[in-house]
Order: sequence, then C-alpha cells, then structure tokens
Amino acid sequence: MQEKYMRKCIELALKAEGQTSPNPLVGCVITDEFDNVISTGYHKKYGENHAEREALQNLKPGEGYTLYVNLEPCSHYGKTPPCTELIIEKGIKHVVIGMKDPNPLVSGIEVLKKSGIEVTTGILESECRKLNEVFIKNIEQEKTFVAIKTATTLDGKISTSNGSSKWITSEKARDQVKIIRNRYDAIMTSSSTIIADNPVMLHRKKIILDRELKTNLNSKIYEQGQIYVFNEYKDSITDNITFIKTPVKENKISLEHVFNRLYELGIMSVLIESGGKLSGRALKYADKIYQFIAPKITGDNSSKSCFDYTEISNISECTNYKIDTINNFEPDILLTYYPI
Ligand SMILES: NC(=O)c1ccc[n+]([C@@H]2O[C@H](COP(=O)([O-])OP(=O)(O)OC[C@H]3O[C@@H](n4cnc5c(N)ncnc54)[C@H](OP(=O)(O)O)[C@@H]3O)[C@@H](O)[C@H]2O)c1
Repeated sequence: MQEKYMRKCIELALKAEGQTSPNPLVGCVITDEFDNVISTGYHKKYGENHAEREALQNLKPGEGYTLYVNLEPCSHYGKTPPCTELIIEKGIKHVVIGMKDPNPLVSGIEVLKKSGIEVTTGILESECRKLNEVFIKNIEQEKTFVAIKTATTLDGKISTSNGSSKWITSEKARDQVKIIRNRYDAIMTSSSTIIADNPVMLHRKKIILDRELKTNLNSKIYEQGQIYVFNEYKDSITDNITFIKTPVKENKISLEHVFNRLYELGIMSVLIESGGKLSGRALKYADKIYQFIAPKITGDNSSKSCFDYTEISNISECTNYKIDTINNFEPDILLTYYPI
C-alpha cells in the first residue's frame, strides 16, 4: 500500500514537470484510517503552495490519517510557511516519505517525530531520487544539471558527411523530444547546428554557443524565447537576446564557464541538442544522456558520429555508462543512460 500511494505521489508530482524550477517536483496523498484516499495535491509552480499544503488546506482535522509525500516536508519559512506545522495542526498520525530533502535547512522528519507523529522514510527511494535528480544536483553541488539528447542511426551517426540529417528518427520520437525539452530550464545548441539545420527549437530559454558570432540573427532559433549567446567578443543585450562574453580555451568557448554562468543565471538544468563535436566535449559534464536510435545504418564511416571528441587506440579507453531505461517509439527506441 505504501508503495502504491508513493507511486501516486510521483504521478501527481510529474504533472508539474517543467514548472517548478528551482523547486523540486512533489506530490502528496492523504488517506484515512481505512486506507481510502481523502485528498491529494502537488506543487504546481514555483512560488505556489507546496504539495502537502495543497492536499491539507481544505481537509478537516481528523484521526488516523496518513500522509504520503515523495520528499521530506519542509520545516523552515521559505516562500511559504513550513508544511510540518500544517501536518501537525491537521492531526496527521503517520507520515510516509520517499526521500530525505538534500537541503540541510530542512529537518522535517525530526520536527514531525518530536511532535509524536510516526514517520516512515525511504519508500520507493530510488524512484523518488530520479524524479528530483535535477534538484538534488542543484542543492548538493550548486551546479546546473546537464543532459544531452542525440538522435542516431544504428551505427551511431547523426548526419552524412555533407550535413544531411533530416530526418533520422520518426515523428513519434521527435514528439517525445518536445516532452523531454519541457523538463529542462533551457536547451543548448551550437553555431554549426544552427548553420546546418536552421532549427526552430521552441523553448522558454535557449543557449547558443557561437564563438565568432557567425550565426545569422534571422535564423529561426532567434524568433522565439529568451536567448543567451555565449561568444568570445561581446557582452550586450538586445530585445530577447543576451550576448555573454566568455573565455576561450583551445579555440573553443569554455564549457566550464558556460555551465557555471548558467547556474548564476538561475538556469538549473539544460538539455544539449547539437552535433557530435559539442555533445562529445560536453560528455564530461553530462549527468544524463538521451539517445534515440532509428533502425537505419549509414554504413559510411565519414558520416558524423554522435560523440566526436577524442582518439583512442585501445577499446579499454572507452568511457562507460549505465543504461537506465529503454523505451519504444516505434520504429525507434530511446536509451536513457547515466555516467557510471
Ligand atoms: N541527430 C541529432 O541529434 C543532431 C542534433 C543536432 C545536430 N545534428 C547535426 O549535427 C551536425 C553538426 O555537428 P558538428 O559535430 O559539426 O557540430 P556541433 O557539435 O553541433 O557544434 C560544434 C560547434 O560548437 C561550438 N562549440 C563551442 N564550444 C565548444 C566546445 N567546448 N567544444 C566543442 N564545440 C564547441 C563550436 O562552434 P563555435 O566555434 O562557433 O563556437 C563548434 O564548431 C549538423 O549537420 C546537424 O544536422 C544532429
């Protein structure tokens, strides 16, 4: 039963995907003494009620209630008063928590226990941690979460040598890319990809790496969203475009500086969608990779690879990853993997 309701909390939390940053995704379920669900709630948007408050605010205090929540309830005054106060006020008997809050300011479990409430922790913990992987990285490392998306053939190619790349994957897979984009505060691409593909890439915030400012400002990507162009020459702001002068290392914009700056700008997560050169260089910063694979083979070694950044002579020099999920977007698949 505990797992069932924790799963429901995760489902509720996911309804606000893309809306809560820099806050976590949180869902809450309340049951009565007969295990019937009597209220639910989720954190809908940054600045709005926490999930527990959503579920509790219209509930009459009662006896024998259990509250399920995927993240430890807050115990400090932030934008809203502590959820622990309301939990205690409403006479909740048992609180079931998915994972502890990585924020050291939060000591909800302790506060609840002190007030005599039974607390159970660690229910579906790994699912709960995955749900809030961005928040965990932000709090624990004070860094932006970096994800990479690539779409490849079976032989790992993203375009032919002359840049022909439309389309490798199916419409179904490309629709899923839009859903994945929405999870991230910003998307990032390169001058080369803009020049080769002139993509639209609809998003609230877009990051462009363009050292020499060679992309045409009439390109489709500039038509919408708040845009940050990392480049070697200028700092300036015009309409929706912010140019950010950035140090260069080996003739390339320093990715270290870019990611640090993104965090300072309040961009808590970024999805890179570029060719193999940028994706390859970004791999050492990547927390997660989405690789769509279409059942096609170019058979041409001169076609561009999805990660192209080094030379190795022994297969033992490969970098290793752990595949997390394999999903079908027929006829394509999506592999999601993490660095080990
Ligand atoms: N299938 C897919 O998922 C997919 C997605 C996107 C693109 N594509 C294809 O990919 C092709 C382009 O791939 P590509 O490998 O030539 O280019 P790329 O990886 O998209 O971009 C490389 C460019 O990124 C910029 N960059 C900035 N900082 C960098 C750094 N630290 N390391 C590396 N690059 C950095 C550089 O341009 P500056 O010097 O101007 O800064 C560099 O020339 C296009 O044909 C496009 O169709 C495929």
